[in-house]
Amino acid sequence: MEIKKVGVVGCGIMGSGITEVCARAGYQVVVREVNDELLKKGLDRIKESMSKAVSRGKLTQAEMDAAWARIKGTTSMEDFADCDLVIEAVVENLELKKQVFSELDRITPPHAILASNTSSLCITAMAAVTKRPDKVLGLHFFNPVPIMPLLEMVTTILTSEETVEIARKFGESLGKTIVVAKDSPGFIVNALLIPFLLDAVRMVESGYATKEDIDTAIKLGLNHPMGPLTLLDLVGLDTTLYIADAMYEELKDPRYVAPPLLRRMVLAGKLGRKSGEGFYKYS
Ligand code: 3HC
Repeated sequence: MEIKKVGVVGCGIMGSGITEVCARAGYQVVVREVNDELLKKGLDRIKESMSKAVSRGKLTQAEMDAAWARIKGTTSMEDFADCDLVIEAVVENLELKKQVFSELDRITPPHAILASNTSSLCITAMAAVTKRPDKVLGLHFFNPVPIMPLLEMVTTILTSEETVEIARKFGESLGKTIVVAKDSPGFIVNALLIPFLLDAVRMVESGYATKEDIDTAIKLGLNHPMGPLTLLDLVGLDTTLYIADAMYEELKDPRYVAPPLLRRMVLAGKLGRKSGEGFYKYS
């Protein structure tokens, strides 16, 4: 089975990035948002990102125009009817994701592979609401999707070898390096990253060190491209909280307990870059 047309459910930070890399790799892409306003916002984000790639010499204007022409925005799930692969990138809510998978199972052709970009939720639970659990897996991209070279491929005990091989080829065609993880909370990266981020918030909360010093320590002491609090602002404090809560819910491991400060910052609308303020302010 050759993948020609890709569907992306959700055009937020991750959905727009996934749409961009698929279109740039030559796939026809249909991306769906719940309303015209969010769709426009997502499509504008893609245009801005590709323009940045052009200005940095990573893409020619002609390649950008061709990629842009391969993207179709929609507010209708029915537009996934001729997709060979659909990647779900809606908010981290298992009930919502199960509903999306059930709809995708009804709408897409029987050969289509259904993937989730979830950071930590159970892929098996999504597969179980479809009549094609052998064609369901996780394809976990990293933010910012056009720049980050990793793709975590998450297989369940129901995913077929054929699906894994098609998905691997697809991921490689996007220029990503693939690692394979089991369907266990947080997969590889977030199982390690989330306790690190939560501990950094605990340090701020307890006055152990300033946020600037924590970030500088990790940047210059470990050569990370950004410190944990800057990274939290990039990932989104709300997204990090969803992931931590989902991991704690399943594992009951205290390493995943969200510190009160994180929960309160989310309640206060300080979500990071996307809301203009998190640990730092953004103009
Ligand atoms: N397309 C292609 N390339 C692009 C681009 C685009 N749209 N925009 C920028 N680039 C290129 C630039 O040209 C540059 O390339 P060069 O190194 O060859 O010159 C490179 O990407 C870096 O771009 P910038 O100079 O704009 O950015 P910085 O050097 O400041 O790096 C960063 C920004 C890549 C975000 C870096 O700080 C970083 O790697 N931070 C860590 C990000 C991270 O850890 N992400 C994972 C989060 S966890 C996650 O997503 C999982 C989830 O489940 C929580």
